[in-house]
Amino acid sequence: MSSNAARIAIKASPGKGLTGKATIPGDKSISHRALILGAMAVGETTITGLLEGEDVLQTAQAMRALGAEVERASDGTWHVYGVGVGGFGEPCNVIDCGNSGTGVRLLMGAVATHPFAVTFTGDASLVKRPMERVVTPLEGFGTRTVGRSGNRLPLTLVGAQAPVPLRYRVPVPSAQVKSAILLAGLNAPGETIVIEEQATRDHTERMLAGFGADITTEITPEGRVITLKGMPELIPQNIAVPSDPSSAAFPVCAALIVPGSEVLVPHIGLNPTRAGLFTTLQEMGANLTFENMRTEGGEPTADLRACYSPQMHGITVPAERAASMIDEYPILGVVAANANGETRMPGVAELRVKESDRIAAMADGLRAAGVAVEDGPDWWQVRGDGPGSVPGGMTAKAHMDHRIAMSFLILGLAAKTAVQIDDAAPIATSFPTFVALMRSLGAELAEVA
Ligand code: S3P
Repeated sequence: MSSNAARIAIKASPGKGLTGKATIPGDKSISHRALILGAMAVGETTITGLLEGEDVLQTAQAMRALGAEVERASDGTWHVYGVGVGGFGEPCNVIDCGNSGTGVRLLMGAVATHPFAVTFTGDASLVKRPMERVVTPLEGFGTRTVGRSGNRLPLTLVGAQAPVPLRYRVPVPSAQVKSAILLAGLNAPGETIVIEEQATRDHTERMLAGFGADITTEITPEGRVITLKGMPELIPQNIAVPSDPSSAAFPVCAALIVPGSEVLVPHIGLNPTRAGLFTTLQEMGANLTFENMRTEGGEPTADLRACYSPQMHGITVPAERAASMIDEYPILGVVAANANGETRMPGVAELRVKESDRIAAMADGLRAAGVAVEDGPDWWQVRGDGPGSVPGGMTAKAHMDHRIAMSFLILGLAAKTAVQIDDAAPIATSFPTFVALMRSLGAELAEVA
């Protein structure tokens, strides 16, 4: 988010059921990766369905700053003319990644094995987030960094002159850290090996294979061992980005808790490393149906129909499922507040270091709305009294976090009294069409002066 974006307060009021087709923008994770790998291939990559949210647009800008040509045609197709592995050039200025942790961490990886310096910065949320987790493995390639305390942004990274390959076990479940290492490994000789205990989203591995890299994943007692052979020539691709399941979660969950709703979300990405929310909702008794299951561009997709589900009940979400739904816990908390009984969500310490401390942000707002919430360092639980039982009638703080802002707006659609958020501007980072889309389904969302 640009730090001078105007604040926009929005009020969500309970009203009629949500009905119709919800066209969701492209997957944020896949969009960042398509731009970066397109820029590291030799020749022209085309991308359709790219998410044109602020986070991804900052990454497109960064690719230009590093020497790739990136253009958007009038039909919405993006064309990336890549410079090849090892072909990035020193940027003339600081690279500002706005609100995007994914953008900055992936980019740090992509430049870490190039022999020049790059300074990264971001907005007031991003400069607070931990970068140590990515800096530590990148130093293993021979990269040096100077950041603020705790290696926070702004941070200058001096790329390795003569990179050496790395074998690294990722200590936290993080696709961003895994991906940063793999992107750095592209311009290192030999084999770069990343080991992760828990499977995190695997878009980087899938896309690297699609671009022709020699990459394998082995499931061993140690965990998932991913091996990438360095210095490949990446072959340009035509990439069709599926709809983002993390964005689809908002209209889908809204349909489940607003009486009279039926919403169809076409072409949603259902990569198993991302689909944990839908399994969880089904275990809670949600009425979800998957139609036209297919594979597109190496990613499984389907059309998803969600209907009002007054029968939903609380469950314990298995901790080992957390990585596959890490961005969906805020909206799950809203669903849990409208289900019957306790929903317990363990193993979610990572939520505390996202765009905001998402456990604290959700717990504060839900409590203010009259919902019973308890939380600890790596868990939280929400007690619901069934559909329509949330009093609402308060203003929640978005904390510069798009998913917190959208979650509280959905809460308002199902509450007894309207819910307001102090700032909807962060929504543009990942889901710029959210307000218009929700209104087209029948949601009452009004800007407040
Ligand atoms: C992402 C990984 C996740 C997720 C983020 C996108 C990615 O972060 O929360 O929204 O595209 O790799 P972590 O890797 O920090 O878990």
